[in-house]
Amino acid sequence: MKDVFLIYAHRGSSINYPENTLPAFAHAIKEGANGIELDVQLTKDGHVVVFHDWILQRITGQKGKISDYTLTQLRKMDFGAWKHPRFAGTPIPTLEQVLTRIAGKNIILNIELKNFFAMKNGLEQKVIQLVHSHKMARQVIISTFNPFSLELLRKHDCKTDIAFLYFGQLREPWRYALEYKCAYIHPPVRGVNAQLLEICRSHGLKIVPYQVDTLAEIKQMIELGTDGIITPRPALAHRLLYGT
Ligand code: G3P
Ligand code: CA
Repeated sequence: MKDVFLIYAHRGSSINYPENTLPAFAHAIKEGANGIELDVQLTKDGHVVVFHDWILQRITGQKGKISDYTLTQLRKMDFGAWKHPRFAGTPIPTLEQVLTRIAGKNIILNIELKNFFAMKNGLEQKVIQLVHSHKMARQVIISTFNPFSLELLRKHDCKTDIAFLYFGQLREPWRYALEYKCAYIHPPVRGVNAQLLEICRSHGLKIVPYQVDTLAEIKQMIELGTDGIITPRPALAHRLLYGT
């Protein structure tokens, strides 16, 4: 599976569906994605839920952040109506719900730890426990921008592949990935070129860019030969690769 070109649907099929929700993930699979990228955070009472932003305002119109609310409180909020009235009432998913739904399917789950502003809150350990208890270590990749998380993932004996994520034009990104024994680097698409690919390959690292949003960028990455892409348009990528 991991040698097939990875089409990660970024927050699910987030162009047409409310991001990071079960309908967005189900639609991504229908569109031909063989991977799903999602973001996770901890609720006030310690549940791992799927949500991107640091604050709730954009998606739910509510004040505060995920960690200000219990799972029960968050389940009363609407995570779909902001996208379109037909998605009104879409609930926030827990990571456990997503794991249960994709277990055994030919789909890789790319779990991004969103804890930049809440470091050392135990998110790494909870995610590892959930993935291991579902016996899904081979179906999951954990990614993070946070170097403390990379250390903690190793400390807690994470059995999944790990991806080193970075912003902008980081100098020699492969050094960080190698230091933390990552299998992948996930760079922003604008910094990806043949030279980066060659160096990563020479170190045995796979490379899967994100922000691959346009048709031209998807085409460019396929032609360059990256190991996959993270895109909100999985259907486009599938069509370019396989003609359907
Ligand atoms: O997987 C990389 C990408 O998701 C990081 O950016 O802000 O969409 O989480 P963001
Ligand atoms: Ca993300």
